[in-house]
Amino acid sequence: MTDIPPLQQELSSFDLLATMVVVVDAEGACLFANMAFENVTRVSRKTLVGTRLQDMLSEPLRLTETLDGVSANRYASSRFDGELRLGAWAQDEQRPVHIFVSQMDGPGSQRFVVELIESAQQARQDRDERNIDQVQATKELTRNLAHEIKNPLGGIRGAAQLLMLELESLDGGAELNEYIQVIVHEVDRLQSLVDRLLAPHRKAQVIGDVNIHEVCERVRSLVLIEHPKGLSIQRDYDISLPDFRGDREQLIQAVLNIVQNAAQALAPRIARGDAEIVIRTRVARQITIGKQRWRLALELHVEDNGPGIPPDIRDRIFLPLVSGRDGGSGLGLTLAQTIAQQHQGMIDVESEPGHTDFRITLPLP
Ligand SMILES: Nc1ncnc2c1ncn2[C@@H]1O[C@H](COP(=O)(O)OP(=O)(O)OP(=O)(O)O)[C@@H](O)[C@H]1O
Ligand SMILES: [Mg+2]
Repeated sequence: MTDIPPLQQELSSFDLLATMVVVVDAEGACLFANMAFENVTRVSRKTLVGTRLQDMLSEPLRLTETLDGVSANRYASSRFDGELRLGAWAQDEQRPVHIFVSQMDGPGSQRFVVELIESAQQARQDRDERNIDQVQATKELTRNLAHEIKNPLGGIRGAAQLLMLELESLDGGAELNEYIQVIVHEVDRLQSLVDRLLAPHRKAQVIGDVNIHEVCERVRSLVLIEHPKGLSIQRDYDISLPDFRGDREQLIQAVLNIVQNAAQALAPRIARGDAEIVIRTRVARQITIGKQRWRLALELHVEDNGPGIPPDIRDRIFLPLVSGRDGGSGLGLTLAQTIAQQHQGMIDVESEPGHTDFRITLPLP
């Protein structure tokens, strides 16, 4: 690390960002560029330092004017749309970008942070953020609702049991008791639903060393016990994956929910005897989860050859109470996603008839 110039060191936290960041002086000359910028433009920062950022934009004047405006304190920051030329200033390949310019160390500073967000990336980020907000809002609503339902349920159950006792001494009471048993039974069902709604927020995490393949093997054997015939669960492991810190039991739960869903979707094929699930692990590098960039991560794929996720619920399967099957409570994936997020990770899915691929991404140290 010693040969990194001090400015680079100071700015190296920009490397954690998924968006491109360049620090320039008032003329637009590059003082620093982050890793995302290097990756997208395929130009090394050594080469970049000293060159003018304007030369990499299709409309250089916009940046010059904006820098003038910001450095004269006419505005603290400014944004505009432009095009970034890729490669060694290639004319042919350009990417539409949103460009944000702001003063780096407050008013009067002659250093400027230029953030460049690819428009496609911007759209995806907006969508991701909206999704996260939506999931958050729904979770909160569900949690509050579950709390509200929980207390009266206890009262209903208690009263029903008292009635049961009273009826025992009455003529014809036995018959009426059956009705009350229905009440108690249904209350218990609601109670367990409410408990499951509240569960992910309640349990404290138990952090230890986790070997992802132990997790996979555990899930595999649990599901095979349930489906001894007609289902094959292949494994394709990258055994070079290191252990990491996490909550083993919770991760088993998350993976189990996903593999169980696959097995449920495969029911007709299990009956025919040609159902297949593949559990695959891989290393991923330089990946973005939410807004954060990670150098190293693991990917755990659960793939099945079932019918695919029903199109009408495809966009909502991670929300609570969304289910496509009879008797499903629609909580399995919500819980799995919560657990992944508690490990700074995420779950996403690609699905078409005949092939569904759930991917759990977890950052590694
Ligand atoms: N591998 C898969 N193939 C096809 N559809 C799937 C798959 N995984 C999930 N789904 C769909 O997503 C829905 C939501 O799954 P989720 O696990 O959240 O709830 P659930 O399985 O219905 O109920 P629960 O898991 O709470 O018992 C499922 O009902 C199913 O329709
Ligand atoms: Mg499920």
